Amino acid sequence: MNNQRRQFLKHTALTAALLATYPALLQANMPHKASKASADFQADVELELTQEAMEIAIFSGSKTSVWKVSGKVLKGAADAVKNNPESYLAPTLHLHKGQKVRIYLKNKLPAQSILHWHGLHVPADMDGNPMYAINTGESFVYEFEVRNRAGTYWYHAHTHGVTARQVYSGLAGLLIVSDPEEQALNLPRGEFDIGLAIQDRSFDAQNQLHYRPNMMQKMQGFLGDQIFINGRPDFVLNVATRAYRLRLLNGSNSRLYKLAWDDGSVINVIGVDGGLLEHPVQVPYLMLAPGERRELWVDFSDKALNTELTLRSKPFEASSPGGMMGGMGNMGGMGRRGMMGMGMMGGGMGASAKLPLGGDYPLLKIRVNKKSAGSGPLPKQLTAIKPLKLTDAANSGQARQFSLSMQHMSALLNGRSYKMDDIRPDEIMPLNTVQLIEFDNGYEGGHGMGMHMAMPHPMHLHGEQFQIVKREVKESAKSDYASVANGLIDSGWHDTVLVMPGEKITVLKPFNDYAGIFMVHCHNLEHEDMGMMRDLLVQ
Ligand code: C2O
Ligand code: CU
Ligand code: CU
Repeated sequence: MNNQRRQFLKHTALTAALLATYPALLQANMPHKASKASADFQADVELELTQEAMEIAIFSGSKTSVWKVSGKVLKGAADAVKNNPESYLAPTLHLHKGQKVRIYLKNKLPAQSILHWHGLHVPADMDGNPMYAINTGESFVYEFEVRNRAGTYWYHAHTHGVTARQVYSGLAGLLIVSDPEEQALNLPRGEFDIGLAIQDRSFDAQNQLHYRPNMMQKMQGFLGDQIFINGRPDFVLNVATRAYRLRLLNGSNSRLYKLAWDDGSVINVIGVDGGLLEHPVQVPYLMLAPGERRELWVDFSDKALNTELTLRSKPFEASSPGGMMGGMGNMGGMGRRGMMGMGMMGGGMGASAKLPLGGDYPLLKIRVNKKSAGSGPLPKQLTAIKPLKLTDAANSGQARQFSLSMQHMSALLNGRSYKMDDIRPDEIMPLNTVQLIEFDNGYEGGHGMGMHMAMPHPMHLHGEQFQIVKREVKESAKSDYASVANGLIDSGWHDTVLVMPGEKITVLKPFNDYAGIFMVHCHNLEHEDMGMMRDLLVQ
């Protein structure tokens, strides 16, 4: 059989398969089959989430208009929803592994929208793919079983082309999952277990959210000039003299953080995106890319009353759109960071001059204000994680490639821009297999010709969590990479991984249980909206 004919057959088979599985894909508008609760789904928990434009008091003076999610428990424990009335942040949801959950999403916004459960392993049509966006006045009914391990997940808008703007306006919140294995551990709980969403925002003189990125700012990703914790600019964490579990989410559109304690203490990491690590890991600093979560165990028991501690973001080399791979390392002895700090580089400068990417600034203030009887030590063993092996992969000899590139004012995956109903043969994942996947950020030269813009890309896969197998860094990128390397945690289960310039990362990712469309994209939300996103068809 000649090659052309084989190609033709492959293509025909693909089209037939698509038609069989997704007849509706060919229609311009997917019918929302999930607009009603299904009678055969017996929900343990029922929630209602309403999205609407609202004015809240963030600063003194004028109120700020935000897009607010408010939650209500219709069935189940009252603590399944914790609203954040004083901030733009969506409510924190508390779910338990094994629960069957029904969520009524009501869209009262003056725009289309849809919510996605980031990190949860749910059926494709419950995943909040942009094709399911609902109009003003419509509802979407999610029904899924919580299959994930205990961990810190989150949810956010995932609307085609406007995800960045919608998340920025407030459509994002934490989603905590518990399970019996985790609850049997002696980890801080209740008021000593705290979720912290870190975001950056900019406001105009009327206290209104400012989001008008120009092309250069989109290429870099939007950077705000003020840090918000749980949707508040003035957040202070008051603690007692005992141990705490801090669940950190980087819910920023594009900003990377290099977290470190101001007193130089090591950071004790106990969990990542997909839940607890086998053992706590100590690092001098911790990288936190957009979309990622890290759980810390912090012991304040030896602190005197009224001690203040600060979690800071410390300097690192983050290339800017002006920086071509390997070409900017040595500008008359002045590093990129120095130049950026001085506002000489194009990327994001308008908005970020006060808070440059890779600068040194405070993130979270902690005040020890109560005595406590203390708490137990950090458990040495937290859980057991079965390592995936290369031989588990259905494609161990030939990894799936995703090359990341920024060119011609667009952000691409394998040279493609996001488009609905546009599955290509290399974007089909066989159901119930483990796939070896490589994210290549200019390690092998990248996609297309010539130099490409050297930028970090936090790559995210929907569906099940994956394991990180290998990192490779190009020689010319190694010195910059050294400024972040010790803050990367590769053990455990992940759904997002930070791919630095000149780096290639290999992961093992299961595609079990659910057929249908799941996504892969950069979690720099401006990059996502600029097209660095693709649908994957699991079948
Ligand atoms: Cu948190 Cu598809 O994203
Ligand atoms: Cu996601
Ligand atoms: Cu990106």
